Amino acid sequence: MTDDVLVVHGGTPLEGRIRVRGAKNLVSKAMVAALLGDSPSRLFDVPKIRDVEVVRGLLGLHGVKVTDGDEDGELVFDPSNVESASTDQINVHAGSSRIPILFCGPLLHRLGHAFIPDLGGCHIGPRPIDFHLQALREFGATVDKTPEGLHLSAPNGLHGTKFALPYPSVGATEQVLLTAVMAEGVTELRNAAVEPEIIDLICILQKMGAIIKVHTDRVIEIQGVKKLHGYTHRPIPDRIEAASWAAAALATRGDVEVLGAQQADMMTFLNVFRSVGGEYEVTDARPPKLGDPGQEGGIRFWHPGGELNAVALETDVHPGFMTDWQQPLVVALTQARGLSIVHETVYEQRLGYTEALNTMGANIQVYRDCLGGTPCRFGRRNFKHSAVIAGPSKLHAADLVIPDLRAGFSHLIAALAAEGTSRVYGVDLINRGYEDFEKKLADLGAHVERP
Ligand code: EPU
Repeated sequence: MTDDVLVVHGGTPLEGRIRVRGAKNLVSKAMVAALLGDSPSRLFDVPKIRDVEVVRGLLGLHGVKVTDGDEDGELVFDPSNVESASTDQINVHAGSSRIPILFCGPLLHRLGHAFIPDLGGCHIGPRPIDFHLQALREFGATVDKTPEGLHLSAPNGLHGTKFALPYPSVGATEQVLLTAVMAEGVTELRNAAVEPEIIDLICILQKMGAIIKVHTDRVIEIQGVKKLHGYTHRPIPDRIEAASWAAAALATRGDVEVLGAQQADMMTFLNVFRSVGGEYEVTDARPPKLGDPGQEGGIRFWHPGGELNAVALETDVHPGFMTDWQQPLVVALTQARGLSIVHETVYEQRLGYTEALNTMGANIQVYRDCLGGTPCRFGRRNFKHSAVIAGPSKLHAADLVIPDLRAGFSHLIAALAAEGTSRVYGVDLINRGYEDFEKKLADLGAHVERP
């Protein structure tokens, strides 16, 4: 544990410029999609994060040759020799990520069977996979749950289906897309998630030869095709990472430019950021031309001085306020005058991290009721899923243990905003989703060190 600790000398505003690359929650799915092609795929701007390594390892086990391309962050996938892997080999990746569940459809198409290890990911509630399994069964797959993992087969092939999700789950929508594109016939998915990462995955599948229509009202129609080829794609930038650094700028009274951040996918975050009292400026990208080197786009976020305002917000599926934006922003809300309300409607247990903030001097109460907005599916179900943040509070240093990825980043922001020296244990978990975060912290003038 000792080498997995970061010592943070807080109280210095973060100032400077960093860059975000392809979205973690798209890149990993794009890598899985490469399995479906009959020729190589090429993905750019892939961040060096743990989730990418896990998917790379799993692809390798299934015979997909993954190599680094010429450009920094470019990966090339050659799926010409897809093969079965042993359960023992696959199980090495058990508990390390939630992405393996998305291998089901592509492996069923390529091999007729699949083994999926026990999943991992962040501990932010039970995170069931019932929608995934229900969808796969609708396509004609047989699912056998064993203590070691899931064994799937499709003895009669996979067939298009009409299916409505009980909730617009991101992962289950991706499961349906990755399965339906090569299933026989037409699939109609209702109550689908339409996050920008999903639209980008649809763009990738369309580049590969898929026929996918996105209708209004969360309906997606997929016409199965017999074969798909490789793709070349530059993914959308990571809007969760961008918002995390924006929140860090606000909480530390700093000024951070996030190169690569895109306004369109962050509109809801930007509205809240402005309501809290943060300032931002969007710079549009300009392609290079003769005599003009062009300009990389991004968004500069800063604390304009003075007091921040309390806000009421509710996390929701797109186009709502992302659940992954919530934890970093709450640290900034501890500095706002008045009572802020956060109603978490996507995950039932995503407010546990507030206890650590309270040990640092924050004043956050969590409630079982749906506060500040419309009732959600967690109301009266005994989940503490609403928070009231009273501020401003002076944060002081503490020893912290990182519980999951986004909560972990919020702990880090709190340590940076607090007076004094904090020790943050388990920081390696942050590498799951934030590329080079220690270097970025150093570039922004943070005083952090490994003991
Ligand atoms: N759900 C079910 N059954 C299912 C699937 C989901 O009940 O079969 C429920 C979940 O328990 C949750 C809700 O539906 O309450 C939404 O879950 P969703 O399936 O949308 O989440 P996910 O696909 O597992 C992705 C991201 C998460 C992000 C959510 C919501 C990836 C790898 N993960 O998870 O990102 O919070 O969508 O946008 O794409 C993160 O990056 O730190 C992270 C947790």
